[in-house]
Amino acid sequence: MAREERFLTPEEAEDDTEVDLSLRPRALDEFPGQERVKENLSIAIEAARQREEALDHLLLYGPPGLGKTTLANIVAREMGVAIRTTSGPAIERPGDLAAILTNLKQHDILFVDEIHRLSRSVEEVLYPAMEDFALDLVIGKGPGARSMRLAMPRFTLVGATTRYAMVSAPLRDRFGSVYRLDFYDSATLGIIVGRSARILGVNLPDDAAVEIASRSRGTPRIANRILRRVRDYAQVRAGGKVTIEAARAALVLLDIDGLGLDETDRKVLECIIHKFDGGPVGLETIAASIGEESDTIMDVYEPFLLQCGFLQRTPRGRMATAGAYRHLGVPMPNRSREGQGQPGLWDEGAGG
Ligand SMILES: Nc1ncnc2c1ncn2[C@@H]1O[C@H](COP(=O)(O)OP(=O)(O)O)[C@@H](O)[C@H]1O
Ligand SMILES: [Mg+2]
Repeated sequence: MAREERFLTPEEAEDDTEVDLSLRPRALDEFPGQERVKENLSIAIEAARQREEALDHLLLYGPPGLGKTTLANIVAREMGVAIRTTSGPAIERPGDLAAILTNLKQHDILFVDEIHRLSRSVEEVLYPAMEDFALDLVIGKGPGARSMRLAMPRFTLVGATTRYAMVSAPLRDRFGSVYRLDFYDSATLGIIVGRSARILGVNLPDDAAVEIASRSRGTPRIANRILRRVRDYAQVRAGGKVTIEAARAALVLLDIDGLGLDETDRKVLECIIHKFDGGPVGLETIAASIGEESDTIMDVYEPFLLQCGFLQRTPRGRMATAGAYRHLGVPMPNRSREGQGQPGLWDEGAGG
């Protein structure tokens, strides 16, 4: 029993609601965006299928909500194999992983979310499994202990992480392909909300789709979330009709600004600007000062603020850029300092 409990059902693995599952694309050609990743994946899938082999191990990384879990499930479907889902923190001991691995069937996919959180001792079980499709078991303890090698079916490990840098080098090296998912541009997000609206039976005018897309922080999960809130708003306050006015009104209520920054994004920037004089200031200090987990700031908020060119990482800490001052409407103190005078940065980043 205990070994089965280590697997999560798709619903448990999914931190969103049931609605998100229905919106989740099920094939590569239903998945807008990430063109380079998709093309590489489709070639690898087709080649593996032709050779009747397991797909090479695959590592997907990037900020949350960009489609890592979705792609893992699509790959399984396109390969025509089963997918078992677990996560780094769910696997506590090497024995837990060994139990999961022995339950896999030929060519199955094992999806390990948050793979950077595997402990070192658990990772060590993974190395021979990935490389030689073998499990090294140690039997007994002390001087009498022997080790035994157990063959296991050829399988595909799909890892996902928001923290590529925290995946150990030996683990990274064992993936046959590694892809970074990028933030989506507004045009692609427009296609995604349009598709979601059709699935939800919402009549979404183009201008409202553009409005939602451009304020979703480059993230499909957020675009879908905003769409649902706009639908709620329209239903309760606008006679069921989704219009651009209804979309804008809902976005105001959600406290999402013109570039898609939410309250926490702005708190991070305001904290650096007002409490720490524009920085540099350490991440932990920012976290303590706004009452947010530093991991959350690093995984969820920082990537998009960096992308917008509002934040800069320096060896001495985070700094707010000129673009950040401008966006918040705060006059920038006239001092010469690194991180200043980079107007080009945010102009480029804001669109993408
Ligand atoms: N390219 C895409 N097209 C359509 N919907 C997407 C796309 N990428 C992600 N989504 C949607 O966004 C949500 C989050 O995706 P998910 O795969 O869980 O992201 P991650 O695992 O990277 O955090 C899902 O509900 C999915 O429906
Ligand atoms: Mg995920």
